[in-house]
Formats: sequence, C-alpha cells, structure tokens
Amino acid sequence: MARHLITSAIPYINGIKHLGNLVGSQLPADLYARFQRGRGNEVLFLCATDEHGTPAELAAARANQPVAEFCAEMHAVQADIANRFSLSFDHFGRSSSPQNHALTQHFAGKLEEAGLISEVSDKQVYSNADGRFLPDRYIEGTCPNCGYDKARGDQCENCTKQLNPVDLIDPRSAISGSTDLEVRETKHLHLRQSVLRDDLDAWIDSKTDWPVLTTSIAKKWLHDGDGLRDRGITRDLDWGIPVRKGDQDWPGMEGKVFYVWFDAPIEYIACAGEWADATGNDWERWWRTDKGADDVRYTQFMGKDNVPFHTLSFPATILGSGEPWKLVDYIKSFNFLNYDGGQFSTSQGRGVFMDQALGLLPADYWRWWLLSHAPESSDAEFTWENFQQSVNKDLADVLGNFVSRITKFCRAKFGESVPEAGEYGEQEQALIADLTTRIRAYEGYMEAMEVRKSAQELRAIWVAGNEYLQSAAPWVTFKTDPDRAAAQVRLGLNLIRLYAVLSAPFIPTASADMLAAMQSDDTAWPDDVAAALSTLPGGHEFTVPEVLFAKITDEQREDWQVRFAGVRD
Ligand code: 2FM
Ligand code: ZN
Repeated sequence: MARHLITSAIPYINGIKHLGNLVGSQLPADLYARFQRGRGNEVLFLCATDEHGTPAELAAARANQPVAEFCAEMHAVQADIANRFSLSFDHFGRSSSPQNHALTQHFAGKLEEAGLISEVSDKQVYSNADGRFLPDRYIEGTCPNCGYDKARGDQCENCTKQLNPVDLIDPRSAISGSTDLEVRETKHLHLRQSVLRDDLDAWIDSKTDWPVLTTSIAKKWLHDGDGLRDRGITRDLDWGIPVRKGDQDWPGMEGKVFYVWFDAPIEYIACAGEWADATGNDWERWWRTDKGADDVRYTQFMGKDNVPFHTLSFPATILGSGEPWKLVDYIKSFNFLNYDGGQFSTSQGRGVFMDQALGLLPADYWRWWLLSHAPESSDAEFTWENFQQSVNKDLADVLGNFVSRITKFCRAKFGESVPEAGEYGEQEQALIADLTTRIRAYEGYMEAMEVRKSAQELRAIWVAGNEYLQSAAPWVTFKTDPDRAAAQVRLGLNLIRLYAVLSAPFIPTASADMLAAMQSDDTAWPDDVAAALSTLPGGHEFTVPEVLFAKITDEQREDWQVRFAGVRD
C-alpha cells in the first residue's frame, strides 16, 4: 500500500474563495486524494486557512472585528463551505495554530543556527497619510519587470515576479491611494536563500517528471539573477507569529512578526500536528524522513502564482534547517480560470464564489465542470453556456439518463432486484474488453494528475455504457428473449455500481446516491472489470434513484448570467 501526503495551497482567510481559487488547488487535490483512497492507498490530505498578514488585518477591520475573532469565524465559514463542496480533508487547519507558532519559530531558530539568517536594516515604505508602515501588498505601482500598472509590492500578478515594494515604479498606498510615501529604516531578518541556490537548482533538476508549468516558473526565478535573492522574513505588524528563535527571545525583534509567506507553508507540517493532536495519530511518520516518512509520496497542488514560494522559498526553509523533513515529490500547478470574458476577482467581487455556487446547484455539478475544464495547459474560461452544456450533456444525458433508463426498465419488467436469468455473451465480453482498456487509461491519467484527460476518459466510460445499452436494446430483446434481456439488464445494473466507484473522485455525492440505490457498499477498485461487473448477483435488491442530475434550463442560465454580471454585494 502506497502512502500519499497531499496538500492544497492554503486559502487566505480574508474572504470566501471563488471558483477560480477552488479549481487551482483544493478541488484537484481532493480529486487526487479521493482517487488514491479509492485505490486502497493510505492518504493524509491537508489544507488550512492562511491567516496572517495584512489581508487578514484589513478584512477584520472592514468587518469591525478583532482580527483573532474574525479569523476564527472565517475559518468556520470556509470549513463549512469546503465540507459542502465535498472536499475530503483529513484536517482543515489554521496557520495561526499554536502548532504553527512553535514550528515556525523552530525553523527560524534552525536557520539562524545554520548561519542562514542575517539581520539587516531594511528600508520600508511609510505612508504619511495613513500614519503607518505599509506592508508589501498594500503598496501598488508599476512592475519594473513587465510594466503592469497594478503590481503589488510583494508580487506582480501579471508576470508572477516576486517584488520588493521599493522596486515599484510610481508607488502609491493601496489603502488611501496616497503617493505621500517615504522610505524609512527598520531592522528585519533576511533568509539567505541565495546560499542555497546550487542545492535548489540540483533538486529542481532532479524533478524531470514535473509539469512544465511548475519547472519553467521555478527555473525562471532561479536563474534570472535576483529570483533567489535573500528575502525579508519579518514584518512590522501586530498580527502574526512573534519573531523568536525556537522558544528564545530574539533581541531586537520585539514587536515584530514573521512574514506570512514564511509561516504559511510551514503550516503544511503544523497542520499534520493539529490533525495528530485532534485524532491521536502520529504526524512525524508523514513528515520526518528519519521517522518513517521516507516512503511517503508528497504531492502539492497550487495555482501558478504560488509556484515560486513552493519551489524555492519553502524548500529553502526545509533544506536550510538541516533537519530530515520531507521535501515535496511532485508539484501540480494550474493556470488561471477566467470568468465570462474577464477575470475572477476577490477584491472586485467578480465571478461566482463558492457559497453562491452552492446556492444555485449541488457541488457535483460544479466539481464536474471545473475539473473537466481545469486550466492545465493554458488559462481557461468559465461561461454559463459552456457550464449549461457540459452539465446537461455529460451529467444529465449521458450518466443520469443511463442510470434512470436501466433502473426504470428493470423495475417495470423484472421488479426491483437484479434479474438472474441469462448469461453474458459476446456483446458483453466486447464491452468488458473496451472498458478494461478505458479504465486502465483512466487510472493512468489520474495517477499522472492529468485532470482534463481523466475527465474525458471517465466520460468515455459512461458513453460506452450508453452505447451498449442502445445497441443491446433490452426493451426490444425482452419481447423475444427475456433471458437475454435479463442478462443485459444485470450488466447494466452492475455498470451503475462500477460507475459509482470510478466517478466518486469527481462527483462523490452522486456516486454515493448510485451506490445507495444499488444497495451496495462494495467500493473495491475494478482491477478486474469482468469480476466487477458480476458484483451484484441475481436477486440482489435495488431501488430506482431520484433524478441524479437535473438539466439547467435556458431561463436559469440567463437569470444566473444577469445575476452574476455585476459585483458581489
Ligand atoms: O495564494 C494563496 O491563496 C496563499 N494563501 C497560498 C499559500 S500556500 C502555502 F504557502 F501555504
Ligand atoms: Zn510584472
């Protein structure tokens, strides 16, 4: 049995995520986690909220709440939505947890012992109009790399370059818009990432199987000269993890906290600790190579804007500590999903947000569309037409119709139990051979995290069942050869169970409904398709399920198009 540690990029606490965020990390990570569990492997699937930094402080201020209270509430909201989207985290943690405080301070201490931390007098932007230091992302200006005029002080959204606010051309305060800014001296800790350049380079070179999107971004920042320059890992903020080395004070760093991008990835480890504390499990066998984690396969999922932090900064923390922590084995990254001719935008409230989506339709509808259109090789676009078409065709016409037709026909002619008579013949053997080829291909794509190709293959597996049913036509056969029709229907009912097992990573609720209708809890992965299609024996009772997927009407589509055209209120 293989062991899979799977993490999704941890979403910021500052608001409910949109569908573009979802498809870039949590959802494909869930797909992979469910698939690996379905194949009988041991999985630890972790996610958390990313709670520090100014976005949290400002969102709390907007909500008129103390930041700790805001984060606690928002964590509960995000956890509930994740649950309703069937995201099967083993633990949904918090980067503000005591475990992450301790571990982040521990890493800082180890990095200092290794000579990888320097104390420098930094220049930081102070806004006279706002009366405060401006954290990186609250300074906007023109990107010195690509010329984008709304680049943030920490990173340019347009070209993904990591920035320092003082690099920005024509900087202004994102809080007040004021350009009355001055640069003041303040002391900060820097992580000497550049010392680790050769180690990181060699490590990334060894990852020959990584997606091009991941390695190209990593290599770009490793080799563009300043991509791996030393980075400030502390900030002048109230909210965050206090700067300490292990459990010791850090003289001169009083009142400062670690930079959110320093502590956020460490939460991947701390989250395992939170899970262990909550469940009595052992987390070190997942994270420490000296304590059993050397046979763990660790996969991370994230949007492309997160790649530099996961290929360079976080590995620098791990390698630099000199301790035997598990390094990531595979990074699956995604391009962006756009919304109906523009971008999804949290700040502008443009697009469909996770809570709104669930108010319109159950999670499976969204999961299917998002995964089957995942922005893998390029950016992708959500349109309502495409969504309607995909739901109506794939889910309602192909899968839903198959299930409804076969169960209703059986009930009408044989009653609500699997018919016993007749044998599988040539037509069934041909279908089994075809399905065997397709299911092996599906497994291959899922193992490789080729999300779109997996969805296409799954759909082809559904189509094969429909085509079989269409050509076998038990409703015709029944008139002349009821035993033959019985065998055809028996195969059809077994196909429903097989589809439930194969489809569960994509549409877990519908899969559970299909299994419940088949009155089966046999979720064994179909290593032998012929055997899988004989699982439900003659006489086994079933029920006709409710409609699995309702079609989206033109009126609904038009209504939603209008409702979501503006900004979220
Ligand atoms: O982009 C984001 O939403 C970040 N909160 C991701 C952090 S991932 C990791 F570093 F923890
Ligand atoms: Zn840029």
